[in-house]
Amino acid sequence: AIERTFSIIKPDATERNLTGKIIDKFESNGLRVVASKRVKLTRDQAEGFYAVHKERPFFGELVEMMLSGPVVLQVLEGENAIAKNREIMGATNPANAEAGTIRKEFAKSMGENSVHGSDAPETAAQEIKYFFKDEEIVG
Ligand code: CMP
Repeated sequence: AIERTFSIIKPDATERNLTGKIIDKFESNGLRVVASKRVKLTRDQAEGFYAVHKERPFFGELVEMMLSGPVVLQVLEGENAIAKNREIMGATNPANAEAGTIRKEFAKSMGENSVHGSDAPETAAQEIKYFFKDEEIVG
């Protein structure tokens, strides 16, 4: 089925001017960018977005990293988009990511792993709604 998923190009990637190379991975693998904005997250936005990880030891580091520079927030659309994007990104830890994936090619570490992507239909819907109004998404 045609799905939508939520993506973040993280500060470690915008800092190295990799935005276009990452979007090319989405587009050349069948996903379409149907919403996009480049912003500096506020602390409230970053903490709220990652609230599920609040008790994890890396939460502080994760939030600081997300505040360290601009991010590109996007909605990606396509056949099986949620799983497809997870394939395109590769494993969370770049050491475990497969060849050709965004994280294998560009990520620096588990923390500075260049992209976020929704992990399931429920979280995709929730994450899209967290950052985008309906009228900002143009399919
Ligand atoms: P993301 O898909 O954005 O979702 C949660 C993020 O937490 C994850 O990508 C990683 O960047 C980060 N993360 C997960 N595990 C660790 C860890 N052990 N140390 C630092 N950051 C982590």
